[in-house]
Amino acid sequence: MQIKIFAPRRLVLATHIFELGWDKLLLPEGSECVVDMSNCTYGEPMGMILFAVTCRNLIKRHPSVTFKIRTAPNSFRSYASHVGFFKYIGFDLGNAPNTATGSRTYTPIRTFSIPKIKELAGEVPVGKYLTKFSTELSEVLCQAGNGDIFDLFEYCFREVMRNAVEHGAGRNLVVFGQHWEAKGDAEIVIYDDGVGIAETLYDNEYIDCNNGREALKFAILPGISGVSRDERFSQDEMWGNSGFGLYVTSRFCAEYGSFRMISGDDALTFSRGTQSEHKWALPGTFVQMRFSVQASSSQIARINQIIEEGKLEFSSILGDYPIQPSAASKLLASHFEKEHVI
Ligand SMILES: Nc1ncnc2c1ncn2[C@@H]1O[C@H](COP(=O)(O)OP(=O)(O)OP(=O)(O)O)[C@@H](O)[C@H]1O
Ligand SMILES: [Mg+2]
Repeated sequence: MQIKIFAPRRLVLATHIFELGWDKLLLPEGSECVVDMSNCTYGEPMGMILFAVTCRNLIKRHPSVTFKIRTAPNSFRSYASHVGFFKYIGFDLGNAPNTATGSRTYTPIRTFSIPKIKELAGEVPVGKYLTKFSTELSEVLCQAGNGDIFDLFEYCFREVMRNAVEHGAGRNLVVFGQHWEAKGDAEIVIYDDGVGIAETLYDNEYIDCNNGREALKFAILPGISGVSRDERFSQDEMWGNSGFGLYVTSRFCAEYGSFRMISGDDALTFSRGTQSEHKWALPGTFVQMRFSVQASSSQIARINQIIEEGKLEFSSILGDYPIQPSAASKLLASHFEKEHVI
């Protein structure tokens, strides 16, 4: 028995991937499933990685089903083949992830084994160890090894990759970036198949977190970390967890573009002053950072300002200990106007 399932025409919007419902699809034992991508003409990092992860999970859940891919000879297929998209899903088409050299406009899809990173880092703090990859990825995207644009890309890659390794407890990390020079926009996406953000925050001594949606909001507050206070005392001074990574990246990206987290059963998006929430289910943690390169790279000093503002906010949060979700919402409201809840 052959079943055909169709990919969206464009792999751009998260809703188009979640509306497919492939996370709940049950295929008959022993059948053949054709993933038809022949109408697909365009893809961006978020859409491509969300689609690839969805397909990988579908394939994993159906060991007795034979999966085939159908594509059309168009520019999307060339690009996707080059960056390692089809092989990342598990189809024998194009390059394997990590093999292309990348270009001024994109990195190849990069995959990492989280246990391997931890093993290779050894005594070196994971954050420090990862800088060699965040530096390399940033260099590919901006074709420079220094300067404001380089610093900005490196910071975004590093902070979110660190989180995947330091907190996610998963096995796989995937990273993909694109820099549209003509438009002046960049997008970086990072996904890990770990426990998700909520799991790491339920036991936090400072906050009273009860569900996934609250967890995402707590995670972006300054000073809120899933790492316990005791553990934080024993961490490396420079690379220990202060609970600022997501606070800074989310605020910075939201000011110059958008920031999105999808983890467990919830998603939270900040985009130029508005906040939206979605009921999207994805095991692990997915982060999308998109920003205007020109506007943001001239404002790199803003990162330090955001950190200073965060320190002040942290002291006001602790005045309300244990922090209730309402305190979180109050803080968010000072930066973002609530748009809609889905
Ligand atoms: N990929 C992830 N998987 C699981 N939990 C995560 C992930 N990313 C973030 N978190 C949770 O969100 C918290 C806040 O993350 P954030 O980056 O802001 O702070 P931190 O990593 O604890 O400290 P810092 O970034 O300052 O080193 C983390 O401590 C962790 O509990
Ligand atoms: Mg962090």
